[in-house]
Amino acid sequence: MRKDLIAGNWKMHASHLDAIQMVQKLSYRLDLSDYERVDVVVCPPFTALRSAQTVIETDHLLIGLGAQNCHWEEKGAYTGEVSPEMLAKLSVSYVIVGHSERRQLFGELDDGVNRKVKAVLAHGMTPIMCVGETEDEREQGYTEEKVGSQVRLGLSGLDPDAVASLVIAYEPIWAIGTGKTASTDDAGQVASYLRGVVAEQWGDAAERVRILYGGSVKPGNIAGIMAKADVDGALVGGASLDPDTFASLIRYWV
Ligand code: PGA
Repeated sequence: MRKDLIAGNWKMHASHLDAIQMVQKLSYRLDLSDYERVDVVVCPPFTALRSAQTVIETDHLLIGLGAQNCHWEEKGAYTGEVSPEMLAKLSVSYVIVGHSERRQLFGELDDGVNRKVKAVLAHGMTPIMCVGETEDEREQGYTEEKVGSQVRLGLSGLDPDAVASLVIAYEPIWAIGTGKTASTDDAGQVASYLRGVVAEQWGDAAERVRILYGGSVKPGNIAGIMAKADVDGALVGGASLDPDTFASLIRYWV
């Protein structure tokens, strides 16, 4: 049985002081039964990780801590980068890897995404590897080819247990921050397709790997998305910044 996961990607929002309030407010709105049903994760910017960690540990919160990126090397002359080991030391348990904004705005390629996935796993954290097609690719019928290849290349060289332990986020690029959401059928279909891609190469790992949908997920559309058999949760950007909205989205069944 796969446990649902709802992760908030705060992107370049929230100072370390904002983060303290956001995590606390979110925690007031959730109770034990919510955490039993859904793994809840927040991914603040690097500069807010330490504060978020402190609140989570001091208040014994069941909110998981995630980062939005990392480098694949342990240490070295990589000005401006943050290593997986540094994140692991902050009790970070999830790292978003290969988000489309990283790929489109910062030139990340599948090979680097693959190295990052491996580095994150090597430090005992869970990668949330993002894949997704552009609007043009969808219109030209290349969605499956694009996301299938991103999954094969991003997870290349991993054994089935490693693949089973991680998270894939399907995020159509045209749906991110635009207010456009993939139809629940499209989201479900691509998630099923990706599970098939994993099955082809990693067998039973496909039954265990969690596949999320992301792209303009809101309290009003999450229930339909979560109802799809192969969708195991959501990666949420804009709607995760307001703790009230994020909490009502997490409690999508209420
Ligand atoms: P959005 O972002 O929910 O604001 O569309 C999703 C994401 O980029 O992870």
